Amino acid sequence: MESNLAAVILAAGKGTRMKSQTAKVLHEIAGQPMLSYPVQAARQVGCDPVQVVVGHQAEEVMAAVTGKQVAFVEQTEQLGTGHALLCAAEALHDFSGTLLLLCGDVPLLRAETLQRMLDVHQHEQAAVTVLTAQLDNPSGYGRIVRSGDAVACIVEEKDATAEQKRIREINTGTYLFDAQFVFSALKNLKTDNAQGEYYLTDVIATAVTDGLPTRAVVLDAIEEGMGINDLQQLAEASRLMRQRINGALMRSGVTMIDPETVYIDATVQVEPGTLVHPNVMLRGATHIGADCIVEMGVMVDDSTVAAAVHLKAGSVIEGSSIGANSKIGPMAHLRPGTQLAGDNKLGNFVETKKAVFGEGSQASHLTYIGDAEVGRGVNFGCGTITCNYDGVNKYKTIIEDDVFVGSDTQFVAPVHVGRNSLIAAGSTITKDVPPDALALSRSEQKVIPGWRLRKQKKAKANKEG
Ligand code: UD1
Ligand code: CA
Repeated sequence: MESNLAAVILAAGKGTRMKSQTAKVLHEIAGQPMLSYPVQAARQVGCDPVQVVVGHQAEEVMAAVTGKQVAFVEQTEQLGTGHALLCAAEALHDFSGTLLLLCGDVPLLRAETLQRMLDVHQHEQAAVTVLTAQLDNPSGYGRIVRSGDAVACIVEEKDATAEQKRIREINTGTYLFDAQFVFSALKNLKTDNAQGEYYLTDVIATAVTDGLPTRAVVLDAIEEGMGINDLQQLAEASRLMRQRINGALMRSGVTMIDPETVYIDATVQVEPGTLVHPNVMLRGATHIGADCIVEMGVMVDDSTVAAAVHLKAGSVIEGSSIGANSKIGPMAHLRPGTQLAGDNKLGNFVETKKAVFGEGSQASHLTYIGDAEVGRGVNFGCGTITCNYDGVNKYKTIIEDDVFVGSDTQFVAPVHVGRNSLIAAGSTITKDVPPDALALSRSEQKVIPGWRLRKQKKAKANKEG
């Protein structure tokens, strides 16, 4: 679908001040690479195509946002923001609508704000509309030189006069352009400035010379224009994004005792009625159902949790699905491939991996169940271990419905336990067990009366003699 709105997102810069091996726009905010936020905002207002200008670590940057319906253009040498847009202009030369220009390092900008810009831009039939902000400390930014409602020009800090430096309205680096105007204006850019770069901002003066309208839209919330240049600003942006995510969840009916300490990725869903304690992390493709309790120190990654599940303190859940009304933890570790049908209980220090549990099955303490298929109503006693790995291969343990497993049992896989059988405590199960049976494998107990007393007497006699 071609629309009358296209976007170009600048993401070729290195981000030297990040002091990081990772390209700036790949640093994550709420679990998503920074670049994915402007991409999403551009799509939300209907931009198609969305062109991303890549340069530094181009391969990695492209990989981070592929599948999000974006096209890429490479800027091999970073000669300035004007040059960066010129690189994208080739791919868009047939395009004659409105062009939205965003920076890949401005993650907090909202689609609602872009829509407000679009309304002004269209209403005023402007050639350029720039998003600005009033800052108490404008240093480092390009300054907006106004002429009434119009923008006369933008002056970079390094090129500004002392008087211009006192201007507090700054350029956020977000613009709407009449595409044909900007592509032709870019061709005339010069590098006669303090940084010897092609400044995109110079096209504003060109519009004024051509007698075309220029406008500014001032941000209400200045953090939306925040550009990330170092890791301190990254943490600050993450904090603001967290407030946004948690705020929206609380307004939708999720209770948080201390939202400042709750870390929920932008990709996570939490249903109303759920209570989240402090110091919780919910990451990736995670869905938490209604009326759950998520206690202190819980981490859930890429997992689905159904309604009314109680995740107790310190539990870690990865790549798993938990059926309704289950109780997990404290201190349980559900590793990838754990699937609980519902009404399950996995208690203190229980670890599972690739384990499918039928309804109502439980392991209350100190247990490892891996590579296992467990039926309904199975009870594992304390200290059950599936021995699924012989150092080379992994083998499966199958336990049918209603099996009762006594404490301190090892299942040496592959092994199959039939329904309704009972495994005596302390057994090492190496052979299949038929249904309804008792299996026990411990050796018979031997008792030698008076043994210890005789030992003690002998020791005493030796010492005195
Ligand atoms: C730019 C603006 C300045 C504005 C500020 C807002 C110009 C000349 N100045 O300055 O008015 O206040 O942004 O943050 O535009 N990029 C490329 N290729 C390049 C150069 C930059 O892709 O050759 C990308 C960067 O990766 C970054 C964005 O463009 O995402 C902005 O570049 P940056 O160097 O940070 O511009 P500033 O000097 O901060
Ligand atoms: Ca910048």
